[in-house]
Amino acid sequence: MTIIPIRPEHRLPGMEPMNPTWSGEDTRGRTLRDLRISVTDRCNFRCVYCMPKTAFGHDHAFLPRSELLSFEEITRIARLFAARGVKKIRLTGGEPLLRHGIENLIAMLAEIPGLDLTLTTNGSLLAKKAQALKAAGLKRVTVSLDSLDDRVFRAMNDVDFPVERVLEGIEAAAEAGLGPVKINMVVKRGTNDAGIVDLARHFRGTGHIVRFIEYMDVGSKNGWKLDEVLPSEEVVRRIAAEFPLEAIAPDYPGEVAQRWVYEDGSGEIGAISSVTQAFCATCTRVRLSTDGRLYTCLFAEAGHDLRGLLRGKATDLQLDAAIARIWHARRDNYSEIRTAETAGLQKVEMSYIGG
Ligand code: GTP
Ligand code: 5AD
Ligand code: SF4
Ligand code: SF4
Repeated sequence: MTIIPIRPEHRLPGMEPMNPTWSGEDTRGRTLRDLRISVTDRCNFRCVYCMPKTAFGHDHAFLPRSELLSFEEITRIARLFAARGVKKIRLTGGEPLLRHGIENLIAMLAEIPGLDLTLTTNGSLLAKKAQALKAAGLKRVTVSLDSLDDRVFRAMNDVDFPVERVLEGIEAAAEAGLGPVKINMVVKRGTNDAGIVDLARHFRGTGHIVRFIEYMDVGSKNGWKLDEVLPSEEVVRRIAAEFPLEAIAPDYPGEVAQRWVYEDGSGEIGAISSVTQAFCATCTRVRLSTDGRLYTCLFAEAGHDLRGLLRGKATDLQLDAAIARIWHARRDNYSEIRTAETAGLQKVEMSYIGG
């Protein structure tokens, strides 16, 4: 059993020494590397695959403010995770830029040494906020963009939001130095798959990296059907027919995207194939919900209440022990065992724990 030492640079004055005996591995031998933090369950979009209006209508009850973790609570947890080997923190939502004062949280997290600090956004507020996010210490952003065709994009976000404004946000992010900007396209067969090659063509040569994501059965409200999943293999085939591609090695162990470069040197794309080629075997991710529950899988049915511990005056040592216990017991491999039956389970919604 390897014992991971606590890195001294993560210890704050007054922070307690932590439990020295944790191997750092879950029951499948996976180590903890990425923490994804949802900072709000609200979103100004109603993407059909994530927050369909039928389930997230005007009367939907979002979390009240008192239920949200404060920035201090989030930072305290983030420090404990960093001390236990987390290398990347991704802020998500809902739409994270809707959280009031998000730059202040970023500035607090940016003080934790050695972290890749990033954020996933729908881009709607990015043109306005990119400079401030960079100044606060954010390293890079990922922007969701499902089509360049304005009519298709407006229908997919379902709030009639124009694609032009997201494109402005992407450019503002790149200008602010938040690159390389990654662009996430969720591919839904029959809805936006006709625009795959257009999206690839548009961003070739810009330095931005488009990733094509298989539509997943997250939550229990998006009416997922297997026949609406377009396998990444087909996505890559369509792009390569126009722009020859060559597979390249992952950037880091456990990367979710399979990477491809254009043979003519005009850039890179990625394919994220959670449905047809599950990547649970190397899954190093844990998710913290807006109200402080820890989820060890995107498809979990329940989380572990860290907020109760935080607000119950738990010490760092106690919090660290809880985190260690949860990760140690982790068995999740949902994407490897997905069936039509599991797709119908009452899983947690993605807008609550982040993408
Ligand atoms: P980088 O840090 O830029 O390498 O990002 P990433 O490759 O970790 O990708 P990102 O966090 O942007 O995730 C992209 C998409 O992949 C998400 O929106 C999800 O759709 C999917 N995804 C990410 N993590 C998981 C996971 O643990 N399980 C499953 N099933 N899908 C995931
Ligand atoms: N399938 C795949 N990805 C999804 N996302 C949200 N819902 C789904 C889904 N059903 C991801 C998108 C978006 C991020 C916030 O969450 O990649 O960019
Ligand atoms: Fe909002 Fe992102 Fe979900 Fe779309 S995918 S509804 S932008 S949280
Ligand atoms: Fe990780 Fe769960 Fe996704 Fe598998 S399905 S890669 S265990 S989050």
